[in-house]
Amino acid sequence: MTARNRIVLSSDHAAIHLRQVIASHITAQGWEAVDIGPTTPESTHYPEHGQAAAGRVASGDCRFGIILCGTGQGVMMAANKVKGIRCGVCADTFSARMIRQHNDANMLSLGARVVGEGLALDIVEAFLAAHFEGTRHATRVEMMAALDR
Ligand code: RB5
Repeated sequence: MTARNRIVLSSDHAAIHLRQVIASHITAQGWEAVDIGPTTPESTHYPEHGQAAAGRVASGDCRFGIILCGTGQGVMMAANKVKGIRCGVCADTFSARMIRQHNDANMLSLGARVVGEGLALDIVEAFLAAHFEGTRHATRVEMMAALDR
């Protein structure tokens, strides 16, 4: 396995079970899931988990990141503070496809209190199956990269 096949997963306490279900699902599809936890149910702080996963993607160690919290919003906000990260929260498959095709998203965020297991897995599949379209979208992604500098 190379970094191109590796997906980092993290969550806060609100999404441990769904995160583990997703990790198993993507592993069965041939991805290498790097699940950085947590595994115990104590209340924890979503900025730490969003930032930790984002660091693995930003460094090039992992191709994609999938992060979760109750709403998906908190971990997404934290991840997007890390230079080079483009993370969107999705509760539908259309958005999951579009953040890859148009925004070249490298991280997906999910709300475990928002989507059920079946929809979450469909969203993950839509995200991973889609490809960045480049062309005019590349200009816009480059403009976002400029905001990091
Ligand atoms: C935890 O209660 C909750 O605030 C967190 O999981 C998340 O939804 C924050 O954005």
